[in-house]
Amino acid sequence: MSLIAGNWKMYNGPVEAGELCRTLRKTDLPDGVEVIVCPPFVSLAESVQVLAGTEIGVFAQNCHWEAEGAFTGEVSAPMLKELGVYGTLVGHSERRQWFGETDDTVARRVYACLEAGLQVIACVGETEEQRDKGATHAVLRRQVAGFEADQNLVIAYEPVWAIGTGRTATPDMAQEAHETIKELLDVPMLYGGSVKPDNAAELLAQPAIDGALVGGASLEVDSFAAICRAAIR
Ligand code: 13P
Repeated sequence: MSLIAGNWKMYNGPVEAGELCRTLRKTDLPDGVEVIVCPPFVSLAESVQVLAGTEIGVFAQNCHWEAEGAFTGEVSAPMLKELGVYGTLVGHSERRQWFGETDDTVARRVYACLEAGLQVIACVGETEEQRDKGATHAVLRRQVAGFEADQNLVIAYEPVWAIGTGRTATPDMAQEAHETIKELLDVPMLYGGSVKPDNAAELLAQPAIDGALVGGASLEVDSFAAICRAAIR
């Protein structure tokens, strides 16, 4: 089964999210492909409601490791579950880059979310500088060192230099990075970083690539649905 997840990032407030989910509901998405959307926190309730009764899963974009407490601005796994959210992204590079997320805090979030029964898509990936220095594989190994295989864990490999840039890892580069991670952890893996309808099929044809984490192209139903169709195996 392949998995296509759309990370809406800080786009689509409740009204727009509701509209996008209503269009997704009416769209013919392929069987045999697990489809997930990750709206911002404020749009989760609306998305869960509109997509109720469909096969499309709703995930958050982040989640704290404690169930409750004095953690201003954070949201916990029990809160997400109460809303009907199935899972969450954790450790996206934008959180590492702009919000001080570290391998340690990412690992804590992953562990707590899995314990609470949420599905987790944990994100890893090297910067351009790290790739140029030949450090890609060491960075990936370090980033996944704090994770343990779990039936609810998926890892997304998103090279930072490919996110929102229109530059994509070649299928060989992505395959190689996925193999490095799969040697350490046998879990499904998504590729992310400028996945578009015209490059999705060749990336998804790689044996170690089990799906895609899509940013920009997930904001339009046509391009998102085209990527879902490219994932049919
Ligand atoms: P883009 O598809 O816009 O490059 O974003 C990738 C991403 O960060 C998904 O989490």
